Amino acid sequence: FVPPKEVGEDGSIFARDANGKLIPASQILAELPETRALVAGLAGEPTYLTVKEDGTLHPWGIVDNCTHLGCTFPWNAYENQFQCPCHGSRYDSEGNVVRGPAPLPLKLTRVSVEDDLIRISPWREIDPRTHQKPWWV
Ligand code: FES
Repeated sequence: FVPPKEVGEDGSIFARDANGKLIPASQILAELPETRALVAGLAGEPTYLTVKEDGTLHPWGIVDNCTHLGCTFPWNAYENQFQCPCHGSRYDSEGNVVRGPAPLPLKLTRVSVEDDLIRISPWREIDPRTHQKPWWV
């Protein structure tokens, strides 16, 4: 058995919990569908993962860093939104701005499963929400 390479050539890493422990994908996938799980992503940035209705992980991670002034924010499952407590910005489930003052959609990362670990990679391609080059690249 050859363990998967921890840091990919593209700078990707495996998701960890708040204590720095690697998180098995099976642990996240055991959550209810449409759950958001917060993990430590690229450069330690907290990143939301989504368990889809079919029980797989959504291929986008959403970085928990408000595009207004950088506050972190919770997921509100009842309103199906990310809601920033600092100045009231709201984002839909894909990270699009629903209400300002946030000027930009939330940053994305790429998410995949590798040997029951969750690989998080930088997102450098066209933003599927805006169909434009990502603002963070
Ligand atoms: Fe989120 Fe201002 S930092 S609304």
